[in-house]
Amino acid sequence: MSLQIFRTKQVTPDDNTDHGLNRCLSAWDLAFLGVGAIIGTGIFVLTGIAAATQSGPAVVLSFILAGLACAFAALSYAELSASIGGCGSAYGYSYAAFGELIAFIIGWDLLLEYGISVAAVANGWSGYFNNALTAIGLPLPELLTKAPKLGGLVNLPAAVIILILMMLLIMGVKQSAKANNAMVCVKLITITVFIAVAAFNVHPENWHPFMPFGWFQTLPDGKTTGVLAGASLVFFAYVGFDAVSTAAEEAKNPQHDLPFGIVTSLVFCTLIYIIVSGLLTGVVHYSDLNVSSPVAHALSLLGYNWASALISTGVIAGLTTVMLVLYYGLTRIIFAMSRDGLLSSFFSEVNPKTQTPVRVIVLCGIIIALIAGFIPLGDLAELVNIGTLAAFVLVCFGAIVLRITKPDMKRPFRTPFSPLLPILGMLSCGALMAFLPGLTWLRFVVWLVIGLIVYFSYSVHHSKLANAD
Ligand code: ALA
Repeated sequence: MSLQIFRTKQVTPDDNTDHGLNRCLSAWDLAFLGVGAIIGTGIFVLTGIAAATQSGPAVVLSFILAGLACAFAALSYAELSASIGGCGSAYGYSYAAFGELIAFIIGWDLLLEYGISVAAVANGWSGYFNNALTAIGLPLPELLTKAPKLGGLVNLPAAVIILILMMLLIMGVKQSAKANNAMVCVKLITITVFIAVAAFNVHPENWHPFMPFGWFQTLPDGKTTGVLAGASLVFFAYVGFDAVSTAAEEAKNPQHDLPFGIVTSLVFCTLIYIIVSGLLTGVVHYSDLNVSSPVAHALSLLGYNWASALISTGVIAGLTTVMLVLYYGLTRIIFAMSRDGLLSSFFSEVNPKTQTPVRVIVLCGIIIALIAGFIPLGDLAELVNIGTLAAFVLVCFGAIVLRITKPDMKRPFRTPFSPLLPILGMLSCGALMAFLPGLTWLRFVVWLVIGLIVYFSYSVHHSKLANAD
């Protein structure tokens, strides 16, 4: 067993051609998938909280710093997805670079990232949806819009939207991608409207003082503040660009299309974030932004109620795509782990009619719907971030290791200035992890310990790689 857990998997981009999934996604489908997963709660909700409590108008710097860390990681993702294209996601790359145990840990870590993100975003979606219902005079009873801990019975809209997305994912990946593309367009129109209105209403005095909370400090109550703490929080806004890599097995030409999808979506979203966060703190004072819908709120403060209503509608569409893509990524990671024997083979059955892994979609849908309906997940964004950052550190490290252990591997895309940029990726993502609170670290460690128990009690005995010998 001691050797098995370090054994690496020999993967080539041509592996898994008979996996039963449908190779139907183009390069632009993948870029849209990225934008669908990236732009969401981070920019529409967390920007306001970060500006008001951590960064002030310098939230734009927080976005740049978090974006930079992601850019370093994205280049390593792009290199690995191009060379190990047939077996996507950080899980697959770790299997090739580090062996089974680390791959399992990363896969387990990604389950946390994707599963909790979907449930967290569903809660945000429900808030906007309830606001919209109230605005048209059809409010839901409060008992049905809040988790028990917040004085309600169940957050029904949050649970129901997950079940609707479950049906969409069962129907097929091309259908899901089409729905995603349509909603991404709505989301982009929404952002364009905000930029167009806000650009003519900037009051430069709102940008002073620019860094009211400094770079970093720990408050007496244990919370952190400053531009660096803000960067660790708004990092959530970038979560999801890695989801593009989970679509490797359904990409028409993964070696070319994955790097394109990952880099294009990340660059585009970073530019949008810089513009939107700069404008947001320019149109209203940062101290007015600690609300659940800061972008819409800023426009109503300016008196543009029509634009504010339009933004709310766009956000509902925008958050739907985030959930859709992250939910999709979650099911594909479980599917890959199950096919490798690290999780039960029950999950890797593909339905021949829909060409989708229906069992895993349904099981994840039910569990996430329960979490979203019954648990208020406000502070879990940080848990998502720590999991994602840990995966990014390992992906950068994996790119370096594979350059040494497999120097001749075909690399259609090469990270420039390697190993400098991957090392900067590890350092910057590691630093963002360090700025997260101790409680988040504790929760993360608990999740990993549960994973290790699963690995040593089940996976190690059922691993296909081990049994092949
Ligand atoms: N990046 C995604 C969002 O901001 C998770 O909602």
